[in-house]
Amino acid sequence: MKIELNHTIIHCKNKVESSTFVAEILGLPAPITFYHFEVVQTTNNASLDFLETDGSFTVQHYAFLVGDEEFDQIFDRVKQRKIPYWADPGKQQLGKINTLFGGRGFYFEEPSGNYLEVLTRPYSYSARS
Ligand SMILES: [Fe+2]
Repeated sequence: MKIELNHTIIHCKNKVESSTFVAEILGLPAPITFYHFEVVQTTNNASLDFLETDGSFTVQHYAFLVGDEEFDQIFDRVKQRKIPYWADPGKQQLGKINTLFGGRGFYFEEPSGNYLEVLTRPYSYSARS
């Protein structure tokens, strides 16, 4: 059985700004223009297709499972750029990271307000009942 997330559309105010930000912060290759999208590909070949809109849109949440080494690099870039980050999705713990499930994680916004998360251990859904 094979069912994998292949791509998703990320609505944003400026597709070049948002896609470049995400690629640079995560350390991924620069975005590729594909039709009216700016596309960032993750290392598991899922595509983040940034689509610019003049209208209002609901910001979404995107979480990235990263290695410990990549986490350190991403965290360094976030701190170097003085990007606000939080340990929690509710933005109560500014400037902190979490250690959920024995890993490390934090949240931050891309320029259009979509809420991003990086984490080194996936959520353990069986731990909560
Ligand atoms: Fe999340």
